[in-house]
Amino acid sequence: MNKREFLKSITFSGLALSATGRSLAARPGSAAPPETPPAAPGDIWAELRAAYTLDPSRINLENGYYCVMPHATLEASFAHARDLNLAGSHYLRTRQADDKAAVRRALAESAGCAPEELIVTRNTTESLDTVISGLDWRAGDEAVMAAQDYGSMLDMFRQQARRHGIVNRVVSLPLDPQSDDEIVSLYAEAITPRTRLVLVSHLVNLTGQILPVRRICDAAHARGVPVLVDGAHSFAHLDFRIPDLGCDYFGASLHKWLGAPLGTGLLYVRRDRIAGLWPLFGDTGYPDDDIRKLNHIGTNPVHAELTILDALRLHAHLGPARKEARLRFLQEYWTSRVRGRPGLTLNTPAQSARACAIANVRVDRLPPGELARILLERHRLWTVAIDAPDAGVRGVRVTPNLFTTTAELDILVDALRILA
Ligand SMILES: Cc1ncc(COP(=O)(O)O)c(C=O)c1O
Repeated sequence: MNKREFLKSITFSGLALSATGRSLAARPGSAAPPETPPAAPGDIWAELRAAYTLDPSRINLENGYYCVMPHATLEASFAHARDLNLAGSHYLRTRQADDKAAVRRALAESAGCAPEELIVTRNTTESLDTVISGLDWRAGDEAVMAAQDYGSMLDMFRQQARRHGIVNRVVSLPLDPQSDDEIVSLYAEAITPRTRLVLVSHLVNLTGQILPVRRICDAAHARGVPVLVDGAHSFAHLDFRIPDLGCDYFGASLHKWLGAPLGTGLLYVRRDRIAGLWPLFGDTGYPDDDIRKLNHIGTNPVHAELTILDALRLHAHLGPARKEARLRFLQEYWTSRVRGRPGLTLNTPAQSARACAIANVRVDRLPPGELARILLERHRLWTVAIDAPDAGVRGVRVTPNLFTTTAELDILVDALRILA
């Protein structure tokens, strides 16, 4: 797509129709926030910013939790909810299955896998916990994970330890490794003949660190051990396709970087690994090797799932590589202006390839909660305090989104310099 075509797409002339063919023009009154200046011709990111309604009372640098939707996607979700409310259970009984299959196909195409290897879930927690709880654990089996992995997954492994007597081996990740070898060796050395599963975060939520997942998978496979990848933050943020990682299982939240509605996620299970998993919610309707057996979640918000198609369309228009480059640019814009300053510590790797949008900073004299409070109350900067001594991370996590401006990041840089 050339620049003109891209501009056309983000002004939504190319996105004006929803999956159901309805107009998705923005609601009256849902214009860009008053403080947003009109986009200069050719400034594609300002054009994109105008496609969102942003809260003018705060500068949102906490997009790591949830990425708000642009008008078009939000309107699509409303349209789907209205349709559903009109058709009621007639829709659920007659059209739901076909639509669900269409979403699954489109998502699988974007993720680079076969539709038979993917299901739509409600979030990463559901996806990864389905795998962790779905293995036939025996007492003495081992699992490998990192202290910097997400708490819910560590909790699920602890639960398996209590329930089945498994042993959890927890490695701790260096923030600035000499090379990928250092990280790969950590995982490889934690594997024993009893290891049944390795969990790896593609992008660590606390620090923004990107891990060499492909190499970790290769090392684990060389020892006969499958790998579960936590892609909560990597999917639709980094430019990759799931099979590139060489993993066995992969879970992600689509309400993060894909910009789909809250409560949407995906689970990928490599074809040959499906039969080995027990569903979390009992299912006898599908054969053991059909991934849909893992998707027996009961009645759920179908309109959110349908909106994944609309979010995928915007993602494709923007282009995964362009998104990744923009997000990395924004992170490096502010981190490069404060890195090395006395009184400040960056808890995010300096090497460009080892981080993208997410970074974490500490003002050495302030507890993380106090820093987050000051940033919000004095500077309108919405971030999140991370106080995770077990993972060795204390600071605030700063996560811009595609619509973030460098002027907003200048406010952060000035605030940090003053506070340091
Ligand atoms: C690395 C990581 N894994 C898993 C999750 C859980 O995501 P969700 O709450 O959408 O299930 C998060 C949430 O931020 C995360 O950062």
